[in-house]
Amino acid sequence: MKSTKAILGAGVLASMLVMSSSALAQTVGFSQIGSESGWRAAETTLTLQQAEERGIDLKFADAQQKQENQIKALRSFIAQGVDAILIAPVVATGWDSVLEEAKEAEIPVILLDRMVDSSDDLYLTAVGSDLVHEGSVAGQWLVDELAGKDCNVVELQGTTGSSPAIDRKNGFEQAISGHDNIKLIRSQTGDFTRTKGKEVMESFLKAEDSGKNICALYAHNDDMAVGAIQAIKEAGLKPGEDILVVSIDAVPDIFQAMAAGEANATVELTPNMAGPAFDALEAYMKDGTMPPKFIQTESKLYTQADDPQAVYEQKKDLGY
Ligand code: AHR
Repeated sequence: MKSTKAILGAGVLASMLVMSSSALAQTVGFSQIGSESGWRAAETTLTLQQAEERGIDLKFADAQQKQENQIKALRSFIAQGVDAILIAPVVATGWDSVLEEAKEAEIPVILLDRMVDSSDDLYLTAVGSDLVHEGSVAGQWLVDELAGKDCNVVELQGTTGSSPAIDRKNGFEQAISGHDNIKLIRSQTGDFTRTKGKEVMESFLKAEDSGKNICALYAHNDDMAVGAIQAIKEAGLKPGEDILVVSIDAVPDIFQAMAAGEANATVELTPNMAGPAFDALEAYMKDGTMPPKFIQTESKLYTQADDPQAVYEQKKDLGY
């Protein structure tokens, strides 16, 4: 049976909501992926801060990289009757049923930083960057840097099945396509972690004449790049020179590596996804204002020319 809210038109519902201060979100469930990277840690910190500043009681659930834990968390938030749900979905597929349950319970859901392949009427909005664009910014940087020089590239992908891993790969391949001097010779997941990034880079180096056959590394995040940089050094090569390093996130540690000449470029992903998400939620709950389906954050390229030490100093205490 449909509830009163579902039967009422959007306009009537909006004017009822505007009259009631209790319409503002008081309790929000947040299903976070885990803590695989410095970027993820900063997103968690900022989400907790943003909630506190707005007087929102944030119910935090760490999924430890497992979709099944995220689905359980969402069901528990629904059972508790939270006012809204934020979720950073670990992978892109498999969300239809639980999102339908949230919709049935009339709980707005906002996606943070990763996308799902479900119908967009199952969530209120998604806050994130253009992930394909990020990959193509990294690829274009390499194209420009090489200026036609031959280059074998190895790629460390993010978590298999996650939207950033899929889109950052596509964006990079689009940018290098048509540049026959650049060849993607190996590509494997490093699961967005430093440890796996190092491990996989070690195997790439071993398989490619101790790294002599590799000219550049493209990592889907900075943490994997930092792990790979360690592997390159241990193999007796100079990261940033013998092997160029380009990655994504712009976490403080990559700026330290850039300042030391061991990394070359990174594409920034803001960890403040919660600010725009709470703004959209507040407007929606106040008077029914529908946010756009995608609220896009910026993707800025940083290179060694951008005073990496100064950027490190600015960023180092921001929760990464
Ligand atoms: O979804 C965003 C990605 O997830 C970040 O780039 C990566 O560091 C994180 O693990």
